[in-house]
Amino acid sequence: MIVTLTGFMGVGKSTIADMLARLLLCKYTDLDSLVEKRENMTIPTIFSEKGENYFREKESEILSEILQQKTNDLVILSLGGGALISHKNSELVKKYSTCIYLRADFETLSRRLVKGKRNRPFLSDISEIEEKEHIRNLFAIREEGYLKTAKHIVSTDDKNISQIVNEIIALL
Ligand code: S3P
Repeated sequence: MIVTLTGFMGVGKSTIADMLARLLLCKYTDLDSLVEKRENMTIPTIFSEKGENYFREKESEILSEILQQKTNDLVILSLGGGALISHKNSELVKKYSTCIYLRADFETLSRRLVKGKRNRPFLSDISEIEEKEHIRNLFAIREEGYLKTAKHIVSTDDKNISQIVNEIIALL
């Protein structure tokens, strides 16, 4: 069984996936890290040197491989925040995994993102003024994909990591 975690940049998918896997004594895989490993480059470098389309191709290719691996083990797979804008990815995730959308308020997300924007290819080149509007637009587009794919929505606002993880475990 594969459990996929989706949600916007900065919601805490990797941290939550890591703790979830520890508690459930299972494997944790991160799609962004797999793309970085296969390309031997960081995500910001892939974006700047090869472009977003190239990144999306690799992201889809690896996602489809993992989802269609034959395994009876439980695996937690954390998806990059833009992985579900592709209809094909969304359909595959729905078919082969139980998808959880980790939701946070726009205000919470934009506060976190503004603090750590250097590693985010979508945010690193823009001014502070443009930033919030840009995050708002991205969030609206991304959220459509999360909502149409996820089986469960878990709100992360005002909750600590263990509360969120316990909520997820109760849903599985
Ligand atoms: C992206 C989100 C990132 C990463 C890439 C693109 C997006 O993942 O895949 O920078 O399009 O929203 P995180 O959500 O894990 O930061």
